[in-house]
Amino acid sequence: MKRLKQHAIWGRRGSFILAATGSAVGLGNIWKFPYIAGENGGAAFVLLYLACVALVGIPIMMAEIMLGRRGRANPITTMNNIRTEAGASWFWTLIGWLGVIAGFLILSYYTVIAGWTLDYFALAVQNKFVGLDGDSSNKLFDALLADRSRLVQSHTSFMAMTALVLMFGVNKGLENVIRWTMPILLLLLLALLGYAYTTGELLTSARFLFSFNVEDLSWNATLIALGHAFFTLSLGMGAIMAYGAYMPSTAAIGKTVIIVALLDVLVAIITSLFVFAFVFATPGIQASQGPGLIFVTLPVAFGSMPAGLFIGSAFFLMVILSAWVSTISLLEPAVAYLNERFDFHRISACLIVAGAAWLLGLGSVLSFNEWSDQELIWGMNFRTSIDFFTANLLLPIGGLLIAIFVGWVMNIEITKHEMQQDSPYLYAVWRFVLRYFAPLAVLVIIVNGVYPVLTVVVAE
Ligand code: TRP
Repeated sequence: MKRLKQHAIWGRRGSFILAATGSAVGLGNIWKFPYIAGENGGAAFVLLYLACVALVGIPIMMAEIMLGRRGRANPITTMNNIRTEAGASWFWTLIGWLGVIAGFLILSYYTVIAGWTLDYFALAVQNKFVGLDGDSSNKLFDALLADRSRLVQSHTSFMAMTALVLMFGVNKGLENVIRWTMPILLLLLLALLGYAYTTGELLTSARFLFSFNVEDLSWNATLIALGHAFFTLSLGMGAIMAYGAYMPSTAAIGKTVIIVALLDVLVAIITSLFVFAFVFATPGIQASQGPGLIFVTLPVAFGSMPAGLFIGSAFFLMVILSAWVSTISLLEPAVAYLNERFDFHRISACLIVAGAAWLLGLGSVLSFNEWSDQELIWGMNFRTSIDFFTANLLLPIGGLLIAIFVGWVMNIEITKHEMQQDSPYLYAVWRFVLRYFAPLAVLVIIVNGVYPVLTVVVAE
């Protein structure tokens, strides 16, 4: 097996948990989860999502870490090492390739949206939300989307922040950043929850989020929950595999994954609780605002609350930090590949990959103005095409292949050995779910994610 001389190991205990949680917690939890939960039936949706995390997300995450830790390299080299060890075809190396490509594509638009949070943080600290109502808040957001140079600026800053960390490598860059960002993130989260308590609307918010509206529960909601479980846990693209490659062999995979998944879910739920509490505490705005929830509805709430300057700034700072640690995990697999496979210095590797993702991201910037109605494929514009292609295809396909490879192709003794720190019961349940339930469930998402689009195309 090709082992790598320069390959790092996490320097401190808990680094893997921090890094993986940092990767998982991001725009998916803070921007997307509150509004999709609101739109798809509150408690019923939350339950579905929890089931998806437990029954599909956790087992696949364990498999992905196992691959990374066994292969001890970037996702491509890792998959090549492991499929050689298993005597399996080169086809399985594709998992690594798909991952690196998916990460690169997601990164290209993720920094554009994360860039908005930089912009909104600047507005928040300048107290620009005071006196906003629904209409003027909409206008403020539309003005941002229409302003190409502002979008490019924040996209560039976010990409630079991301690349800068990884230029220093895993131990000096990433580990140092997560050591302070993750505690700050937690403090901000608790402070926001505490403030939401003082508005007196936390209960209304909980009732909204946890009231059971069975009639809202549709087949479509199940698919959204399953797809979101993938995205929010950063699964299927090698980010978790790349981080697993730095994990010491003495760590218990199962226990670690359960902690990461619990933290991820907790952040999503706490965020939703205070976001809706802020919304309900503000007269004249609606809870179901869709994707505009944090950029249109929340600023109105911040503008009218007594400590709005601080709460608004704290909120957008929290989103920036969480998105930052996520973008780092999207960049790392490709950087590690160039570094390990072609001996590129980490600095050049970061410049090349982040530069290319930045360039591609310009397409996403234009998708919010000039190109918003320009169809790329199947009625979608540039950005929505990339989003669709990655979230609905590449990630689930990556996850499916990982489940099949670890469940059916990899030597069972090796999988047992990798999980010797976990209880034999956990191992048995994991293996069963990974072999039968998870692949079927994922197959269902893929088919249902693509089928509606195809039928629309055929009908045209
Ligand atoms: N999980 C992050 C979020 O919820 C996004 C993310 C980071 C991601 N790395 C990923 C999504 C890898 C898919 C794959 O915002």
